[in-house]
Amino acid sequence: KKMKAHKISFFLILIILISKTNQKELNTFSNYDIISQTNINVHFIVDFDNKKVEGEVTISFKALEDGEVIILDTKSLIIKTIKDNTGNELDFKLDNYYRLESHGVPLKIYKEYSKDDTFDITIEYSTTKDCMAIDWLEPEQTSGGKYPFMYSQCQSILCREMLPIQDTPAVKMPVQISITVPEELIGLAAGLFVEEINNGNNKTFIYALDIPIPSYLIAIAAGDIGSQNVSERCTIYAEKTVVEKAAWEFSDTEKFLKIAENYIGEYVWEQYNILVLPPSFPFGGMENPTLTFLTPSLIAGDKSLVSVVAHEISHSWTGNLVTNENWPDFWLNEGFTMFIERKILSSYKDKDMAKLDAMVGLSNLKADIIAFGESKSFSSLEPNLLGRNPDDAFNKVPYEKGFNLLYYLENKVNNDDIFQKFMRSYIDKFKKGVVKYMDFRTFFETFIKNNVKDWEKILNDIDWDTWVFAPGFPPVENDFSNKYADEVDQAVKDFYENKLSDDFVKKFKDWFTLLKQNFLNKIKESDIELSETQLEFLNEKLELIQGKYNVEVSCSYYLTVLYHGTLSTKFEESLVDFLGKHGRINYIRPLFSALARRNKELAIKTLDKYRNFYHSIIIKYIEIDLKSL
Ligand code: BES
Ligand code: ZN
Repeated sequence: KKMKAHKISFFLILIILISKTNQKELNTFSNYDIISQTNINVHFIVDFDNKKVEGEVTISFKALEDGEVIILDTKSLIIKTIKDNTGNELDFKLDNYYRLESHGVPLKIYKEYSKDDTFDITIEYSTTKDCMAIDWLEPEQTSGGKYPFMYSQCQSILCREMLPIQDTPAVKMPVQISITVPEELIGLAAGLFVEEINNGNNKTFIYALDIPIPSYLIAIAAGDIGSQNVSERCTIYAEKTVVEKAAWEFSDTEKFLKIAENYIGEYVWEQYNILVLPPSFPFGGMENPTLTFLTPSLIAGDKSLVSVVAHEISHSWTGNLVTNENWPDFWLNEGFTMFIERKILSSYKDKDMAKLDAMVGLSNLKADIIAFGESKSFSSLEPNLLGRNPDDAFNKVPYEKGFNLLYYLENKVNNDDIFQKFMRSYIDKFKKGVVKYMDFRTFFETFIKNNVKDWEKILNDIDWDTWVFAPGFPPVENDFSNKYADEVDQAVKDFYENKLSDDFVKKFKDWFTLLKQNFLNKIKESDIELSETQLEFLNEKLELIQGKYNVEVSCSYYLTVLYHGTLSTKFEESLVDFLGKHGRINYIRPLFSALARRNKELAIKTLDKYRNFYHSIIIKYIEIDLKSL
């Protein structure tokens, strides 16, 4: 009888494993497992007056099985006509029965096909006012003030609001993007520049990528954009009024690329350009291939916030070349990218600086695990996203728990060269393809078996299930102690004892931003309330928000006071001012939550005040936060 129970559970586990490994990606309506898109050629006509894009997309398909319908993802799109390659119109239906607020409406196109058929279809469509993938700025919202500006943000599942497509990272394809804009503006897109065509009042810019990419990396932008080369393969684009400052700030981009190549292998995308956006851009950076998007808040005047560039560059390998197949596997993009980012930082500055960065990361991770729930799925490396928008789960867990797992594995292997060799062969094995957790794990285990003598001991020690599937804190705490942290700890201690001297103040002003952040983080995370003297010390002596202005330091300062200080009118005014200048979610989401805990009325009033400035994808999250407080 015992045997039987064993057998049953064995088969049960087998079935679960099989169904897990063959699971379809859950955030798409498309039948990509029956018929797969093999190329996207899309033309966007940008209509600033009506804040919409007229689009025409030709999608190439290859049938993997026989079928009679092609299902694509859409959200808030108007579909005009759908034709096959002979120009015949095809029947289609936006199937509202399946409409989901989070995922949009499936577009069903009726066409018979047999396994291995290849063919194209062309869809004429337009976007609508509800399109959240595109942010439209009036001239007065730009720094130049004369021309409008627009840019897209497709990750995670917003591409379907810009074009009908199999909007899933499980499918990758070459893309060609044309963008038509008024003649006085510049149109940019992810991809290598092909040509510019002048057609009267308009200009069309054409870009193409032969290396296959997932839909979430499709990107466009248009505005009064200027450019400056900082190396042969790096050009910095920005609004004309910003471009000079931006080019100076990000002039080390080529250096980062070389360091990254040295660690992980050749950069295959040819160009690495940066577009610095207006401040409503909701992220620090977005790794659109050959055209990273950045927030202008990073322009500090001293290159102190450039690690975001190191991060986006690292995605050129992990994310863009090797892509997470499912959104619950997002940590395979972000955790790996953090790992390479910190390898770059450790060459660019030094090893202790990279460890300090990891230490700050770990403390942010712990804060997020608590905020999202120690026993909740969203604090697990593989969150359960069933029926959810993947962005709902966005937090530090995939980034920092993912990083900590890789850091732990590197230490287990106990030979940085072998681990580097592993990383390079991982990229080589999966490049231009997609990966799931088990692909990575199996590849790692095989590599270690083949390359490390005491492989058995190493592999037996790793508690994969807890690392990957359990919610809460990582099962192993890595040691990131470093010389900088010791200095910061001493300063924090002296601060609480009101012992910080004028000499310290001088030294503090020359500290790297990361040290200042760490100093403030420690004060923020302690339970100790701040006295008026201490508040004044932070504010007046350390000049955290005056003098040489730095967005990260300012943000940490506001948070620290919101957690532990009294709120003066002057403080509140300064905070509200800050909230109107920076649209990056990492700054404003925690600030709104912290403000709401102290002064909910002001939080609500401020959100209303800047509603037109903030990107619509983050207003949603701030509103949810405010409601829950
Ligand atoms: N790909 C992400 C941004 C993203 C993630 C957009 C999920 C939409 C959904 C990008 O690479 C990123 O991680 N940006 C960070 C940079 C930081 C970790 C250095 C950001 O914007 O804060
Ligand atoms: Zn990233």
